[in-house]
Amino acid sequence: MTLVHPRRVAAVIGGRQHDLYAAAGPAGIAPETARVVSSTNPARLSDVVAEVVLDGAEAIVAAAAAARAAQREWADVPAPVRGEVVGAFGRLVEDNAETLARLVTREVGKPLAEARGEVREIIDTCALFRGEGRRPHGQTVPSEMPDRELFTYREPLGVVMVITAGNFPVAVPSWYLVPALLTGNAVVWKPAEYAAACAAALMDLLTAAGVPPGVANLVLADGPATSLGLERALDAGLVDKVGFTGSTAVGRFVGALCGRHLQSPCLELGGKNPMVVAPDADLDAAVAAALFAGFGTAGQRCTSLGTVIAHESVHDAFRRRLAAAVSGAVLGDPTRDVLYGPLLDARFAAGFEDYLACVRDHHEPFGSTALGRIGPASPRRGFVGDPEPGLYYHPVVVDRVRPDDELFTAETFGPIVGLTTYRHLEEAVELANLPGYGLSSSIFTGDPVTVRRFRRGVRAGMVSVNTSTSGAEAHLPFGGNGRSGNGARQSGQWVLDQVTRWQSLTWELSGRLQKAQLDVSVPPADLGFRLPR
Ligand code: UN1
Repeated sequence: MTLVHPRRVAAVIGGRQHDLYAAAGPAGIAPETARVVSSTNPARLSDVVAEVVLDGAEAIVAAAAAARAAQREWADVPAPVRGEVVGAFGRLVEDNAETLARLVTREVGKPLAEARGEVREIIDTCALFRGEGRRPHGQTVPSEMPDRELFTYREPLGVVMVITAGNFPVAVPSWYLVPALLTGNAVVWKPAEYAAACAAALMDLLTAAGVPPGVANLVLADGPATSLGLERALDAGLVDKVGFTGSTAVGRFVGALCGRHLQSPCLELGGKNPMVVAPDADLDAAVAAALFAGFGTAGQRCTSLGTVIAHESVHDAFRRRLAAAVSGAVLGDPTRDVLYGPLLDARFAAGFEDYLACVRDHHEPFGSTALGRIGPASPRRGFVGDPEPGLYYHPVVVDRVRPDDELFTAETFGPIVGLTTYRHLEEAVELANLPGYGLSSSIFTGDPVTVRRFRRGVRAGMVSVNTSTSGAEAHLPFGGNGRSGNGARQSGQWVLDQVTRWQSLTWELSGRLQKAQLDVSVPPADLGFRLPR
């Protein structure tokens, strides 16, 4: 259904909608810095899901100032009470799950089953962090001197700026927002503009859950305005931590900016995730995993499969079965039961086409009758619905990729998978690490020794055995190394180290000055003593 009046999504700063395009707001932001763009349904581009008011850098600074003003009071709310707010948010997400999932599908084209899973990931995250509000957050530590108490406290950082991509428009933001809010931080969230309606829905649910005005702020801005706004907000001392999910190139920029302020951001960047198929692999299981990992979400997860590295003894059999699976996969309308739907947005479609142009003469593409966009001139057998109005692309597996091919080294973010072979496990590990990313990885084998050698050799933050590179559970540490990130980990208890800092307390109760190391009295030991033989 096409909405006659698409939702208008504008910044929410200090609890108030700032439609600065319509009128300059109290933050004094000039309306001419704002512009309106459309967020469209990638399955039917004429369906405008939202009109999005993109602000200038000033809005980011204003949002960070609003967050700063609200944070202290929020940090004073007892942690278990903040946990209840997180619990209410989870409950509200659950009670609105179908509406939210359908909005995700409509705005970014993710198949409904996956969108429902994405919404579930928020609910799971809230279940974990609701309880975290009641867990003791610090330790008591014994002192080396009498009548002295030592403690540790987990303290909020202050203002956390969260910048997210639109491939997981609600789950990945919740990985940052939920633990950051639970631990007493205020947040400024800059979502992807092509997923703005999803962001606005999530903000509405946060507000309904009782998050006070100013504690969670939403800003929409394009890349240059975001960079400038973040730079200014950091310079003004209004941002204490940045959480960024997106490309490696932008991640480098964010990292450099934060480094100037002696801050270490939480960077969740791209991946070129390998899957090794060992000689003893269960090939049907490997094919099922490669199909989901490579083509689920149209290959647009940071954990999507990049290259299959198959042992030369199983390459041909694996290729035959994968070709059958890819050729037979059902694509199309994401509201129906399909492997994948359209690409996220026109920008991503254009980027993907650039990678299709990297298919060279020495490559052997298979899995489809054509390369590129699906349409009347280039149909896909069994396509569900009408491809013409959407950003639908043929899936392709490219055999014989070589280590110096762009297709081997670059994150392609679309329905394309590379295939190559190896002889010895060392070679497979080397190929797995060669692109320099290090997010997710997978190996298919029944041999524990092979698993161990692979796990220890691969530099990925996440290793899967006999399953997909994508689809990590919401309470395991999530994150990568190298071009995939700076070692920061999200999810589960591990993310707490991203949104809090430790403070220690030394409490002298003796009434006099006791000096550490100097006033420590240890009973003398006779270190020359030996037992009689
Ligand atoms: C991402 O693509 O940014 O493990 C996150 C997975 C999902 C999250 C992907 N749970 O594939």
